[in-house]
Amino acid sequence: MPLVTTKKMFQMAYKNGYAIGAFNVNNMEITQGIVDAVAEEKTPLILQISKGARQYAKMSYLKAIIDVAVRENPDIPIAIHLDHGDSVELCKQCVDDGFTSVMIDASHLPFEQNVEMTRQVVEYAHKHGVVVEAELGQLGGIEEHVKGVDDVSKHLTDPEQAVKFVKLTGCDSLAVAVGTSHGAYKFKAEPRLAYEVIEQIRKLLPGFPLVLHGASSVLKEFKDLINKYGGKMPDAMGVPEEAIAKAVKMGICKVNIDTDLRMALTAKIRQVFAEKPSEFDPRKYLGPGREAIKELVRHKLHVLGCAGKAAECL
Ligand code: G3H
Ligand code: 13P
Ligand code: ZN
Repeated sequence: MPLVTTKKMFQMAYKNGYAIGAFNVNNMEITQGIVDAVAEEKTPLILQISKGARQYAKMSYLKAIIDVAVRENPDIPIAIHLDHGDSVELCKQCVDDGFTSVMIDASHLPFEQNVEMTRQVVEYAHKHGVVVEAELGQLGGIEEHVKGVDDVSKHLTDPEQAVKFVKLTGCDSLAVAVGTSHGAYKFKAEPRLAYEVIEQIRKLLPGFPLVLHGASSVLKEFKDLINKYGGKMPDAMGVPEEAIAKAVKMGICKVNIDTDLRMALTAKIRQVFAEKPSEFDPRKYLGPGREAIKELVRHKLHVLGCAGKAAECL
């Protein structure tokens, strides 16, 4: 099975009420931890690469690692996706590099400019058989917007506008702003998601795949380890997993996770360094980090409901 686009994955996810996990990769250990987990759980997978990851690891290295993962797992559908593409040129480059899916994130621009940039990416990508994720609305915790300048609904995705946007651009999936945000500090108070926005968009765009960014949960286990072994993340707070599972049931087809992977790796490395200060073999701390990522991803696949769904997505 070669790399696949997300088309069939999203169709099945939508129809059967689960979501595909989209995990960020930056190096070999992270990729292996994720791929080992999906191989064991027989799960469809989206591996995503940000502009920063491309620069850090060098695209050619990351792509080669992913190609091996694809070759070694013929029964697992794997898509390779550009996360948060910030220009038409970068998206085109990724299409040329063999990505099967790209995201153009022009959500910070006025509606018309977002439409125009997205349209240009769609035109090029579709010509090459690549699918496009776009974004509408501004990510950010709801209470953060409440305290800010203006009212919350301005930042969340406007359902009517989403319909227009999808029609005008021809994008294949849409990242929506419903109260999540990137990173480890998503909420200062009670986490709250705007489920009604997901519900309205689903009603207006039946069958259309929606994407949830900023979906890490900041798991207590890793936060505690980091804080215990010299880290300082006391106020870190993520989206509770029950909230993610609820959003998935309402029509979210792709769930983006990066922070939780970073925290798992960091926690394990800190633990090894603290418990064995004389250790200096990278395999002795990256190995436990990779294992922690694997177990974390296995757990996430069950939260998303996609464990065991590889075959139906092929
Ligand atoms: O949403 C952003 C992802 O976590 C990627 O982050 O741009 O630091 O690689 P990055
Ligand atoms: P987290 O920071 O919550 O993991 O979100 C990752 C993400 O949205 C990548 O696009
Ligand atoms: Zn994101």
